[in-house]
Amino acid sequence: MSARILDGAAIAQQIRTELRDRVGHFARETGRPPGLGIVLVGDNPGSEIYVRNKLRAAGEAEFRADLERLPATATLEDILALVQHLNASPVHDGVLVQAPLPPGVGAGATQMVFEAIDPAKDVDGLHPLNVGFLVQNRPRLTPGTPTGIIELLDRSAIAISGTRVVVIGRSDIVGKPMALLLMHRNATVTICHSKTRNLAEIAAEADILVAAIGHAAFVRRAFVKPGATVVDVGANRVTDPKTALDLFGAGSPRMAAFERRGSAVVGDVHPEVAEVAGAITPVPGGVGPLTIAMLLSNTLRAAELRRIILRG
Ligand code: GUN
Repeated sequence: MSARILDGAAIAQQIRTELRDRVGHFARETGRPPGLGIVLVGDNPGSEIYVRNKLRAAGEAEFRADLERLPATATLEDILALVQHLNASPVHDGVLVQAPLPPGVGAGATQMVFEAIDPAKDVDGLHPLNVGFLVQNRPRLTPGTPTGIIELLDRSAIAISGTRVVVIGRSDIVGKPMALLLMHRNATVTICHSKTRNLAEIAAEADILVAAIGHAAFVRRAFVKPGATVVDVGANRVTDPKTALDLFGAGSPRMAAFERRGSAVVGDVHPEVAEVAGAITPVPGGVGPLTIAMLLSNTLRAAELRRIILRG
């Protein structure tokens, strides 16, 4: 049996359609569109693609979206100054600094930069104040990827309450907030990571398995309980033809695309998992589009809340 494919792209489109009326209303009432400022430091190829997709989606949804670039040689002070500028800008309701920052900025820089963002404009939900509100189940702005995954499960009629969920990965951006959001929806949540013993065995107890490790095709058939829902957060670039052949199979459309382009983006979940899972998100076209839809949703929410606060 082959798993049901959870079409993240279609659900993201539905969410963007639902935002349209509110975006129009905001623009009519304030004389300007909701505004997003994105900071990109250096030239990480993955970040270039993510940021391009965010800018395109924001433009299509009739938001204002400005890209502020800094070179890889930028200092922490340069980045903090740019964040302060966007914090003070009347036309930007959301501020996002794309991670990862170049290693030269220093250890701990990413957290210092996230902490410098005005919590009311923190559309990534990564400021410690917003993280704290999430921990206490009083969510304000919450991170796009895990929030998008909850939307995907809800809109696909996959029950969360009472289920056993395993999240593989403990990052601040995905793993930790994912576990909190699921726990607040009454799932029983286990977080696994690189030091977890018997990871496959633990994962195989999950009704819902979330893979956010950043390791191509890490999750194999043995990690998955038959019928489980598998959410693949990975977006790993594969350039090795042997790896591509193993994942896609000779003569498949994806192998043909790999041969044309010389690379492909694959998830953290091996394609063989589709033979045992009950439902699965594809890569691309699964979680990625939802992350962007939730960023737009957060930016609009921040804009609406700022308007209420500024009017007094
Ligand atoms: N890098 C990878 N995912 C994200 C994200 O959701 N937000 C930011 N700021 N950087 C990222």
